[in-house]
Amino acid sequence: MEHGETSFHNIIVTGGAGYIGSHVILSLLLTRKFKIISIDNYSNSHAESLERVSKIARESLPVDASEEDKFSVIIDDRKVDLTNSLAVREVFEAYGKGNIWGLIHIAALKAVGESGTVPIEYYRVNVAATITLLQLMDEFELHRLVYSSSAAVYGIPPKIPTPETTALKAKSVYGRTKAISETIIKDICQSNPKWRVISLRYFNPAGAYESGQIGEHPVGIPENLLPRLAQMAAEQVEGPVNVFGNEYNTRDGTCVRDYIHVVDLAEGHRLALEALSDGSLQKTFGNVAGNNVNYKAYNLGTGHGKTVLEVVNVMKEVTNFAYEIKFGNPRAGDAPTLTADPALAKTELGFSASSDLERICRDLWNWQAKNPAGYGTQRAQRS
Ligand code: UD1
Repeated sequence: MEHGETSFHNIIVTGGAGYIGSHVILSLLLTRKFKIISIDNYSNSHAESLERVSKIARESLPVDASEEDKFSVIIDDRKVDLTNSLAVREVFEAYGKGNIWGLIHIAALKAVGESGTVPIEYYRVNVAATITLLQLMDEFELHRLVYSSSAAVYGIPPKIPTPETTALKAKSVYGRTKAISETIIKDICQSNPKWRVISLRYFNPAGAYESGQIGEHPVGIPENLLPRLAQMAAEQVEGPVNVFGNEYNTRDGTCVRDYIHVVDLAEGHRLALEALSDGSLQKTFGNVAGNNVNYKAYNLGTGHGKTVLEVVNVMKEVTNFAYEIKFGNPRAGDAPTLTADPALAKTELGFSASSDLERICRDLWNWQAKNPAGYGTQRAQRS
């Protein structure tokens, strides 16, 4: 079977092999409505993740699955760096004008601390490469986009839970790359009603697919709380847990975050993609002021926050690991509390994150216990 010959929608997912990307692709494949082209440079991901996604999807097919169904679970896995525009162009050319239905742009650099030390690199990868991608999309008549943004665009928000109407005042270079990209994309939507774009502002994605076959495998020592706790329990990294500040104005003095199960987050991408179809346009964009501007941003979160100490306690129960806790200084730019107002995504996308923190931690631990060194590559042995 050749590209473009099936009844499936061809979808490009950038950052497809990464933690979020692999779960998003799985969510799409399980619907049996999409054929996936993944673009990833494997700078913070592993090819094995896509092999496992494809295997899960293949095994979920019914015994009488059609040849088309069997073809659809084979991912067109392209090892391409998004900043190499010629290589990206080749992917678009392989399918041809009008043959790709939608694009989910997840690939980005995402380490908040690092972004302040190498800002040019963050703007080059997160903003400049996004502009090139938008140009190619326009040239190849592809105007449906789901863009990965972040709650980091809000900085320290004045209103908790935080609605999408909150002013974007990011506190980090990383957050600004996302806010700037959102602004650019919105301007493009304003210039031409052909574009239909949804930005998804992630709160704190965590957990793993319930079978434990795919999950998060950050390169190097994880900076984020949950992967760090999981790797400590799996004896991949050493303790103690350094809690960044315990004098915040929160219930126990530590920061509150809205942890969302990565499988719920992935479902949010599927819903957003489907909201870009002709039949959903009125519902999705009908109430945008100024009309004819098909751009919306949605929070993806649960609406409920947990403190750092609450997270450590749940992980302790789930893993039986005796975490040693050390209270350190607050981390620069950290918001005391960051929780989503999830109402808009619920009304307009039909999205709701059903998994609680306990479920997130259980699934995270299931993945980590089954794959102590992640995808088991040389990188894992080095870290
Ligand atoms: C950050 C970014 C987010 C990004 C995410 C994943 C912001 C506001 N958020 O989330 O956009 O998508 O990383 O890269 O910039 N903590 C500790 N000790 C640790 C690690 C974390 O106490 O060793 C605390 C942090 O202070 C924070 C909470 O745990 O309150 C969660 O931290 P983390 O997992 O790093 O996520 P965020 O900083 O919330």
